[in-house]
Amino acid sequence: MATPKSLSKARITALGTYVPDKILTNEDLERLVDTSDEWIVQRTGIKERHIAAEDEFTSHLCIRAAERLRETYGAALDDVDLIIASTTTPDFSFPTVSCRVQQYFGMERAGAIDLNATCAGFAYALHLANGMISSGLHRKILVVAGETMSKITDYTDRSTCILFGDGAGAVLVEADPELSGGFESVILGTNGAGGIHVYRTGLAEQMDGQPLEGKGKIVQNGREVFKWAVRTVSAGIEQLLEQAELTREDIDWFVPHSANLRMIESICEKADLPLAKTLQSVQDMGNTSSASIPLALQAGVNSGRLKFGDRVLLYGFGSGLTHAGLLLRWDVPDLS
Ligand code: COA
Repeated sequence: MATPKSLSKARITALGTYVPDKILTNEDLERLVDTSDEWIVQRTGIKERHIAAEDEFTSHLCIRAAERLRETYGAALDDVDLIIASTTTPDFSFPTVSCRVQQYFGMERAGAIDLNATCAGFAYALHLANGMISSGLHRKILVVAGETMSKITDYTDRSTCILFGDGAGAVLVEADPELSGGFESVILGTNGAGGIHVYRTGLAEQMDGQPLEGKGKIVQNGREVFKWAVRTVSAGIEQLLEQAELTREDIDWFVPHSANLRMIESICEKADLPLAKTLQSVQDMGNTSSASIPLALQAGVNSGRLKFGDRVLLYGFGSGLTHAGLLLRWDVPDLS
């Protein structure tokens, strides 16, 4: 699915993120499974990840991220009129994470909805927020993306437990009084028949007649996901640029879902984008699913690389299989 060039009347105006204190290093993993720091770094680029405490769940991480957003935004969030929470790992089926966030901040005028588009969820949530604001139905939307992947990770499976980490990010999407259009182009796509990446966390005991392995934990065919992502995202980038009538040189920052550093390198190579113009969170945080893009944006802000007015190409992809890419202007004021 593709949209015409810039019908957007929305922009991102604030960012906040949070990761739990506890760190799980590659050396810690060497004590859990038959692996090595060298293997993990060479295949994934990951050095460490943050892990939620036993009594810390996705809504707690999202609330912390939104608190940090509120600090830098410098104003109350009372007039938020919709909360969209992206997560694959909610505390409960219901109440939803978005309802927990609403309750904490007492946003009395806000609707609340959770969305699950796996690791592409943040990009999907931004797409929805842009659409709702551009249609005139909403003026200020809080998007939170949070994950406690550690709670669905099997720490006896060396092919998955090295990958995942926990964290959350929040952005504010607001109506743009100048109607300059912060969102320039979008692409969405799905391959529901992909079926190579199963989270054994739902209610069903089988899928398409096949029993599920894994008992409440992530099971995947990593190599297949890797190949699909490189192929799909590089083609999507081409389409996004074409739609927006832009070239690679117009992009200040490429922010792909941070699943694996080698995967990011392969996407950049195939899409002919310089790695130096990439923001990622995977080295220090692992794959945090839908939280990985806001965490990468935060790394860009903290290091002074991502600046107000920069053009960002962000691209989420994940289980489903599903993907979403967006071209947008970064409208968050620089921290002085
Ligand atoms: N330490 C040491 N060896 C490991 C290992 C680990 N942590 N995990 C797997 N291996 C072994 C395998 O057992 C296999 O051994 P064998 O050849 O003796 O059978 C060998 O390494 C190669 O396994 P393979 O799965 O083919 O490795 P890979 O190069 O594809 O790397 C991933 C595995 C998981 C790192 C990689 O496929 C990946 O990152 N895929 C993407 C996954 C992902 O991002 N999913 C979420 C998408 S949103």
